[in-house]
Amino acid sequence: MMFHILCLVAMSAMSSACSFGNGTCKGVTLVSRSEWGARPPKEVVSIPMPVKMVFIHHTAMDYCTNISTCSEQMRKIQNFHMDDRGWFDIGYNYLVGEDGRVYEGRGWNREGAHTKGYNRDAVAISVMGDFSDRLPNKKALDAVNNLIVCGIKQNNITKDYLLYGHRNVRETACPGDKFYELIKTWPHFYLNKQGVDTIIG
Ligand SMILES: *[C@@H]1O[C@H](CO)[C@@H](O)[C@H](O)[C@H]1NC(C)=O
Ligand SMILES: *[C@@H]1O[C@H](CO)[C@@H](O)[C@H](O)[C@H]1NC(C)=O
Ligand SMILES: *[C@@H]1O[C@H](CO)[C@@H](O)[C@H](O)[C@H]1NC(C)=O
Ligand SMILES: [Zn+2]
Repeated sequence: MMFHILCLVAMSAMSSACSFGNGTCKGVTLVSRSEWGARPPKEVVSIPMPVKMVFIHHTAMDYCTNISTCSEQMRKIQNFHMDDRGWFDIGYNYLVGEDGRVYEGRGWNREGAHTKGYNRDAVAISVMGDFSDRLPNKKALDAVNNLIVCGIKQNNITKDYLLYGHRNVRETACPGDKFYELIKTWPHFYLNKQGVDTIIG
């Protein structure tokens, strides 16, 4: 009941959906592409669902703690990825702000440009900011976890998925030392799963 009341307040305040997948994604406050002011993608390529791998990234750009600055970050990141990198769209499937919201990137069943060699086999979630010296706040961490749970419920991610940091497959600091130390403790982190025959990196 409380949840619904809060949703209605949030919706009337900013005409934002308070969840997606019609309630299967409890705790996920999605900001759609139109809400953050996305440009249309140059091209869209689908990938098979569900994926078995989830990659965690950070943007290594600015932090943001409200919908206006996070939306501005989204537009900057998309411009950077499309205009400087030459990609079809913003690279990641989803991004998360320290406002606790989930910002729609390419979406679940779309090939991203986030983790070379794994873009068709994985989805990528990137937290906005640089997490070399500090962790994302609790709101952002909760949003990441709720988004993964949502993806599992909607059959976008397998129940026994493996979690990786970008640096596990690439020479990069991403997702930042502090954040990486944390995700290494998460149960689905690939090195914590027994009987894994897909150890990489
Ligand atoms: C909610 O989603 C489920 C599965 O995606 C679907 O079967 C159901 O009809 C939907 N309910 C409503 C009210 O849209
Ligand atoms: C959003 O955050 C920025 C940067 O911290 C701040 O300057 C601005 O006032 C905030 N906007 C709202 C609506 O809270
Ligand atoms: C995955 O997520 C999208 C929403 O982004 C949904 O429409 C789709 O049905 C989901 N499931 C599969 C199997 O693609
Ligand atoms: Zn990365």
